[in-house]
Amino acid sequence: MTDESEATPQAAIDAEREKHAHERDDRVYEFAAGDEQEGIPFVGAGPGHPRLLTVAGKRALEDAELVVHAGSLVNSEVLEAYCEHAELVNSVGKDLEELVPLMRDAYEEGRTVVRLHSGDPAIYGAALEQMDALEHEGVPTYLVPGVTSAFAASATLRTQLTLNETANHVAFTRPQGRTLEAEDDHIAEFVGMGDVTTCIYLGTHAVADTMDRLLADGVDPDTPVTVVYHASWPDEDVIEGTVGTIGRKVDEAGYRASAMVLIGDAAAGAGYERSYLYGDWANRGDTDGGTETETTSDD
Ligand SMILES: C[S@@+](CC[C@H](N)C(=O)[O-])C[C@H]1O[C@@H](n2cnc3c(N)ncnc32)[C@H](O)[C@@H]1O
Repeated sequence: MTDESEATPQAAIDAEREKHAHERDDRVYEFAAGDEQEGIPFVGAGPGHPRLLTVAGKRALEDAELVVHAGSLVNSEVLEAYCEHAELVNSVGKDLEELVPLMRDAYEEGRTVVRLHSGDPAIYGAALEQMDALEHEGVPTYLVPGVTSAFAASATLRTQLTLNETANHVAFTRPQGRTLEAEDDHIAEFVGMGDVTTCIYLGTHAVADTMDRLLADGVDPDTPVTVVYHASWPDEDVIEGTVGTIGRKVDEAGYRASAMVLIGDAAAGAGYERSYLYGDWANRGDTDGGTETETTSDD
């Protein structure tokens, strides 16, 4: 920071983004994910259930004096369980210009600060811009991963997101809307690939519209779609349907936020084949030159 005009979060983001394009931070080579580091941890709270917080996340929260959390996206049970002694600040409705000085000042006063995001901060979390703005002000930051909601949904459904023969790929995506231009909405392409489990974040309010677009794009109306509302919360709910029916069902249930939409057979655990991993192939050893060993090691 050299002068007053550079002291805005936007200027800080611009400067840090430019820096990332040319050099890696030394800490990338010094620390592993999960290590405790100096600074403000950006912690993934997980999908909701307090037991789905990492050990590193729990320790950070228990030590915290100030927790800036993502409002209703973070289950209050997590805050009650681990933040008994901390001041709690809801970040919803606050912009970077308010959040960054709030965290910076607390950190500079010597308080232990945690920034708590829902799920994993690396998925639709807008963490990096906050981290960059803080780093630019001399406040170190680091990430503590969390269980993303798609993984909680697959656990609820007692299935895998990848399944041999059924789903060789997973797409984490979101539908077009205020944030995403229509031409950047790739849901129809992922679904059209056939062997992809498409996990739609931030799309609960628009399930019917999204399905209408898929139908217009020629997607089979019988393609399975499973919606998991509040995965791992006490009021968790599962709605099963197809591209042709799920929009109406979600509308009837009245859910407008906080659900994971999973498209594809894997969500039902249907149609898969036994994997190579626990078969004769694995016991005979690698006859394909090494690459298959790596790609099938899924435990
Ligand atoms: C701003 S994004 C944050 C995602 C979060 N960082 C994660 O890794 O899960 C919010 C979206 O995540 C999904 N989501 C978050 N928590 C959820 C939960 N417990 N069950 C189902 N979906 C959830 C919903 O699609 C919601 O619209």
